[in-house]
Order: sequence, then C-alpha cells, then structure tokens
Amino acid sequence: KAAGAEVTGVCSPAKTDLVRALGADHVLDYTHDDFADGTHRYDLILDIAGNPSLSRLRRALTPSGTAVIVGGESGGAWTGGFGRQLRAPIVSLFVRQRLVMLASKERAGDLVRLTPLIEAGAVTPSVDRTFPLERVADAMRYLESGKVRGKLAITI
Ligand SMILES: NC(=O)c1ccc[n+]([C@@H]2O[C@H](COP(=O)([O-])OP(=O)(O)OC[C@H]3O[C@@H](n4cnc5c(N)ncnc54)[C@H](OP(=O)(O)O)[C@@H]3O)[C@@H](O)[C@H]2O)c1
Repeated sequence: KAAGAEVTGVCSPAKTDLVRALGADHVLDYTHDDFADGTHRYDLILDIAGNPSLSRLRRALTPSGTAVIVGGESGGAWTGGFGRQLRAPIVSLFVRQRLVMLASKERAGDLVRLTPLIEAGAVTPSVDRTFPLERVADAMRYLESGKVRGKLAITI
C-alpha cells in the first residue's frame, strides 16, 4: 500500500477491521470469499497462508502477474508442505505468470528502506502484545491460539 498499490487483504472475520485499519483497500473474509473466484485478477499475490494450489494462484493472477509464495500452515507427507514451492519455479518456466518462493533474510538494506516508511506513518507494524523473555513460552501459546492480531514482540 505504501508503494502505491491497490491492496486486497485476505483474513478471518475477526481480523477484517485490523486489516482495513492497516490500509487495505478491500478485505476478503476467507471463510466466505474466494480470492480466486475470477471476480478480480491481481498483478501480485503475496501468498502467506491458506495453501492455495498453484492453479488457484494462477487463476487469480493477471496474465503476466506474479505470485510470491511465503508460507502455509499445513505440511505434506513427502515434501513437508514445500510441494508448491518446489513446483512453482518449474511451472513458471512454461507460463507467462511468475510463481516464485520467498526465503526471507534479515538484511540491513531492507531495514534502511523500511525505517523512513515507519517513521512517516506509511507503514505501521501491528504488535498485539509484548512479552518479557522469561515468558516466551506464554507468548508461543498465545501465538498458537490463533487470536494474535498482528505480531508478538519479546522484550530483552
Ligand atoms: N519464506 C520465508 O522466508 C518465511 C519467513 C517467515 C515465515 N514464513 C511462513 O509464512 C507463514 C506465515 O507466517 P506468520 O509468522 O505471518 O504466521 P502467523 O503470524 O501465524 O500468521 C498466519 C496468518 O495466516 C492467516 N490465515 C490462516 N488461514 C488463512 C487462509 N486460508 N487465508 C488467508 N489467511 C489465512 C491467519 O489469519 P487468521 O488468524 O485471521 O485466520 C494468520 O494471521 C508461515 O507458514 C511461516 O512458516 C516464511
């Protein structure tokens, strides 16, 4: 959104207000709406959850759009949930759309780009709660509950 895109966020009903407050122009509730039903085609999909198949991702992309596969919550028997990530670059060789996987790294350059956006209020990290280091087990339990809105931070 800070880069000028029109953004659609996909989340559960309890978090639509949060996602809208973070700046999304449109919000889809994944318990009712299917982002890949053909109503809209997206230039870029950041695929963070839900494990949509590559064909569903392709259906939701514009003809030359890009899907970046970040992660998903369920594992596969043989590939540990990485099946889509492994197939994506192969499928990409034969279609106009780009299907790529992300392996995130902590890079100083990224933080240098993000800092002025945060300072200007264009990007607002959503921190639900902070926990001291000695309560990290409680933090992990809270994370697993699925109720966290945004992220948890550990103070040291
Ligand atoms: N590639 C990399 O380098 C990299 C780096 C970090 C993390 N990851 C992976 O990225 C994924 C997300 O990490 P995270 O730390 O952001 O996890 P997280 O804090 O647990 O967030 C996961 C989110 O997924 C949402 N969600 C669940 N089912 C969904 C669906 N069907 N459609 C849309 N959203 C859905 C949940 O929203 P609700 O609570 O509203 O259901 C939750 O907010 C994980 O699989 C993680 O392993 C990858």
